[in-house]
Amino acid sequence: MRFTQFFLGLAAVAAGSTIPAEGVEARHSSGYWYEKIQHNGISPFITNGKNWKVFRNVKTDFGAKGDGVTDDWAAIQAAFDYANGTASRSSGAWGTTGAPAVVYIPAGTYRLSKPLQSYVDTVVMGDPTNRPVLQASPDFTDPFLYLGYDPGYDSTINFYIGLKNVVLDSTKVPLAHNITLLNWAVSQAVQLTNVLFNMPNGGVAHTGLSMPQGGSPLMINDVVFSGGSVGIRMNEQQYHFKGITFKNQDIGLKLDKLFEGTGQNLHFESCKVGVETTNNNTGFFALIDSTAKNVGILWNAAASPTAQGSMVLENVQVDKSVGSTVTAGGINVLKGSVKAGQSWIWGNVYGPSNGQRAQGKFFPASRPLALLDITGSYHTVTPPTFQEYSVDQVINVKSVHGLPVAGDGVTDDTKNLQKIINQAAGKKVIYFPHGTYLVSDTIVVPPGSRFHGEVWSEISATGNKFKNANKPVPMVQVGKPGQLGVAQFVDMLFTVADILPGCELVEVNMAGLKAGDVGFFNTHFRIGGARGSKVQTDCDDPATCKAARVCAHLTTFSSSYWENSWCWSADHDLDDDNGANPSTAGGFLVESIRGTWMLGIGSEHNSLYQINVYKAQNVFLGFQQSETPYWQGNNSGLLTPLPWTGSLLDSDPDFSWCAPDDAQCRMAIFQYIHDSSNVNVYGGGYWVFFNGINRDGCSAECQQNAVIYADNQKLYSYGVSTHNVRTMVLESERGKDVAEVVDTANAGGWQSHGGVMAAYLGQSGY
Ligand SMILES: *[C@@H]1O[C@H](CO)[C@@H](O)[C@H](O)[C@H]1NC(C)=O
Ligand SMILES: *[C@@H]1O[C@H](CO)[C@@H](O)[C@H](O)[C@H]1NC(C)=O
Ligand SMILES: *[C@@H]1O[C@H](CO)[C@@H](O)[C@H](O)[C@H]1NC(C)=O
Ligand SMILES: *[C@@H]1O[C@H](CO)[C@@H](O)[C@H](O)[C@H]1NC(C)=O
Repeated sequence: MRFTQFFLGLAAVAAGSTIPAEGVEARHSSGYWYEKIQHNGISPFITNGKNWKVFRNVKTDFGAKGDGVTDDWAAIQAAFDYANGTASRSSGAWGTTGAPAVVYIPAGTYRLSKPLQSYVDTVVMGDPTNRPVLQASPDFTDPFLYLGYDPGYDSTINFYIGLKNVVLDSTKVPLAHNITLLNWAVSQAVQLTNVLFNMPNGGVAHTGLSMPQGGSPLMINDVVFSGGSVGIRMNEQQYHFKGITFKNQDIGLKLDKLFEGTGQNLHFESCKVGVETTNNNTGFFALIDSTAKNVGILWNAAASPTAQGSMVLENVQVDKSVGSTVTAGGINVLKGSVKAGQSWIWGNVYGPSNGQRAQGKFFPASRPLALLDITGSYHTVTPPTFQEYSVDQVINVKSVHGLPVAGDGVTDDTKNLQKIINQAAGKKVIYFPHGTYLVSDTIVVPPGSRFHGEVWSEISATGNKFKNANKPVPMVQVGKPGQLGVAQFVDMLFTVADILPGCELVEVNMAGLKAGDVGFFNTHFRIGGARGSKVQTDCDDPATCKAARVCAHLTTFSSSYWENSWCWSADHDLDDDNGANPSTAGGFLVESIRGTWMLGIGSEHNSLYQINVYKAQNVFLGFQQSETPYWQGNNSGLLTPLPWTGSLLDSDPDFSWCAPDDAQCRMAIFQYIHDSSNVNVYGGGYWVFFNGINRDGCSAECQQNAVIYADNQKLYSYGVSTHNVRTMVLESERGKDVAEVVDTANAGGWQSHGGVMAAYLGQSGY
């Protein structure tokens, strides 16, 4: 509590200030630095990869006109397809990570007579200073304008795909012609942001986006759907939606199927229905910090009497024109707004006393002040493009005179990279052309740092510095303890080139003056499963492959904002056909007390836990998606805490509450929150499908425990959801006093063997 004063102080500074410039005056430039800067990205691990063309300007390289008249389909599609002159990019010849491409679209209106087909490892980026329009021609006949889904891969492994800074437009297509602007049947490590879905008003058969093939994604953020009939038509496992406006639709967000999701900062204007879940195929959905104006029904739901169809509303402001805030089974069950200090819940609520059924009931809620803006909403930040900088304020890390950096996955770039980072701090944005920047020692990131990658530029650790399991060392250290300032990471990827039991991929010590100053946007982690790492080739057996310690460690005095980040310890090989059973001790370790925001986080297949919140305060956890390491469970020879026994930290679960031979108890905890206070969780999907090193299919009871909540104060957890797990929440890990809160096989989510808890309030203390 002695830090309360400090938080309030920070909040006061933040309210009236802009991003500290640290000597840089961001100038208005014409055009975008990224269009003008030298492009020398490579694909390090394929034949002739130094000649691989990463950056493709559809106008200057491929002859698209962007004049609003010419059919530009062939020119733009050629930019997607262009490869090395031998194999085609659609062939998958280079695996998921070997054929990186940025299809860059300068300002202009590009007429399209046919759908564009994208592939894995492709980012389509428009000029954010003047977003290009991809416009369906009046005679367009295909069902989709843009296929983000790569049919060469199952939707659940459609990884490393992006679409940003563009307008998708169907305004020239007849109102009754059935067209969907985007097929987005994709999964983790994808980005959809800063896109306007522009459909004609009254376009009765126009849809913004859908995903008929499903997928397993994390986040859609900062996009607008205008006109048409439906904004988003959802058929997915999970989602965190943030910063989305739906205008002039019959239905804004139509959840045909969504096991779990959270909508934050959603704005519905002039829609008949905002959110629709009448299909009764949604396990849980939370709507927070959202508004509705001139809307008939904000949320039209099935009146489910079971855990299926759980709903939470918190800080939802509707104006007088809104006829019904929630309609369930055709009956108006909520009218008016839901304030920030309360939550309205439909579903099963556990604690403070034993479980109770709520079908439209208000509960008290509390939000940590350190996490809020002046309106009482949680702070959110749009991902930086650094568009306010001119090209001479950005340096290409591979083009600094006298300080060569290779990014080729072979050369040790540590020394020169560190020098460039030090020189740029407070002065320049650093652009990392696509490649793998190998480092053999800690890279220290000082205040004033801004990094922009390209189709996920990699920083990859190697060497003896990172090999001691008992002495974790950061690969990228963001500030020293106590430092304040800016450190932002956009489109980067952190990985390991070797088996490194002592490697913390990222350690954050720095705090910003406001949310997002220290921020990670569309920046991911990968441990094994791809070319360029011994973890890809040498990790058949997790017992001998302690591949890394933790993806990210947020230390006590840090404050950071994370959005759309996936910590993936590989469960299969993306590029070749090696076995993939690395053991990474943990995903995200959060010990920060100064304010942490995590939105749309995936953490999968780590050995001890996926997210561990320990002695932390002021933590916002938006939607979390996690899966277990598939070598654990029945038929596994390796019981946790193996292979990490002997190097456990105080924060780690030691599994002492499990019988020594109980393989299904000795499996990674999805979310471990202990000795913490002021923690608010909005949605988590915890899925188990296999048991044992041979990936034996299992069902019903594949894992004993999902989540452990122990000794917390002011913990509000909404939307715990499981598949094939026996106990959803353990209320304590101490000794034998394990309280099994709930066992909800067949309660929703995945139809069978799924559990859905609308809210866990047992440690909220209200
Ligand atoms: C192009 O890539 C394919 C697939 O990796 C490879 O077989 C071929 O040798 C490459 N051709 C050239 C000219 O690099
Ligand atoms: C468009 O066609 C798809 C596929 O047949 C169908 O599912 C969808 O309902 C149609 N949309 C509209 C608005 O008619
Ligand atoms: C919704 O689905 C659940 C699970 O299948 C079922 O128990 C419930 O009765 C359904 N509710 C409605 C309103 O159809
Ligand atoms: C796992 O093993 C335990 C103990 O042998 C057994 O009771 C349980 O049925 C097994 N579970 C599965 C899914 O095979």
